[in-house]
Amino acid sequence: MTLANIIIGSQLTYRSVEHMETVQFCGQTCHVMKPEFTAHLLAPHQQVECAACHVAPGASGWFKAKMAGTNQLIAVVFNTFPRPIESALEDNRLVSSAATCEQCHARNLFIGSPLKVITKYNEDETNSRTETVLMMQVGGGRFGGIHGAHMGPGVQIRYAPRTRNAKRSVGGISQHRHQRDANLSRRRGESRRRHRFSVFEMQCADCHNRAAHSFEAADRAVDDAITTGRIASDLPL
Ligand code: HEC
Ligand code: HEC
Ligand code: HEC
Repeated sequence: MTLANIIIGSQLTYRSVEHMETVQFCGQTCHVMKPEFTAHLLAPHQQVECAACHVAPGASGWFKAKMAGTNQLIAVVFNTFPRPIESALEDNRLVSSAATCEQCHARNLFIGSPLKVITKYNEDETNSRTETVLMMQVGGGRFGGIHGAHMGPGVQIRYAPRTRNAKRSVGGISQHRHQRDANLSRRRGESRRRHRFSVFEMQCADCHNRAAHSFEAADRAVDDAITTGRIASDLPL
């Protein structure tokens, strides 16, 4: 009987713990996260579970997430949660992209220079159209571009805000150097000075900070709707 109970009990716990990792639990049971849940439905990551980007893999990541989750639950019950919900990236609490994004996206993948076409319709009677064509120098790996320059092999960028204890996005960048310059800065005695400040290491989310939570500005949404034919292009705006 005891054995049977343990099996049934552990199954129930296992199922409920599993349920707590689902998109429905994170986004719908917890109404506080409705905006993030809604944006997640539209983005290219709609099949990616919340936990894949917000919880580090392995037992310690799971435990940390459950501890934070418990505090968040208390904050929701007593209605003391911050509005808007504080940015985890800003406070350096966001799980590093090495443990999340980079489980699916290879850091050194060579992407090259894709073309990006941005179509805009002017606010005149004929909705006259302008097209901006951009060549995005994404690069990757040893081949430069924005990815290669910021995250290529042997490149490690750390930066610190200008004021002590400031958040990631506040105060501007006062240090911005590649690892190959580290010896130079040590010789100049700069590293000791820098350590008094919070130091952030550049990761994917420093640039792609709206992955899975992107939303369009109204004018861009209308432009896209005209381009894809959801709004008639001869309808004067
Ligand atoms: C593809 C990766 C990815 C997925 C999937 C994802 N998120 Fe996020 N989420 C992010 C990133 C990146 C940020 C931005 C962090 C920042 O700016 O602080 C973020 C921010 C948030 C924030 C704002 C607070 C914070 O931590 O910064 C909440 C709340 C949130 N996500 C909830 C969810 C929920 C709920 C789901 C599932 C419905 C989900 N996320 C799925 C990557 C993801
Ligand atoms: C579980 C796997 C998975 C994880 C985790 C993941 N991605 Fe993705 N991501 C994908 C896939 C698959 C696509 C391609 C979707 C498509 O082409 O329709 C994609 C597309 C993208 C794109 C290009 C599409 C676009 O228009 O936005 C970017 C940028 C991106 N991911 C960044 C990130 C970042 C940053 C993170 C971490 C915060 C992350 N991804 C986490 C699987 C993942
Ligand atoms: C310094 C800023 C920066 C960092 C750091 C960065 N990216 Fe990007 N990434 C970009 C820019 C800019 C583009 C081009 C965006 C566009 O075409 O709209 C891009 C494009 C992409 C794309 C889309 C490529 C395509 O098919 O069009 C993916 C996927 C992507 N990045 C993933 C990542 C991942 C994963 C990381 C972390 C390992 C990362 N990026 C780090 C700036 C960055």
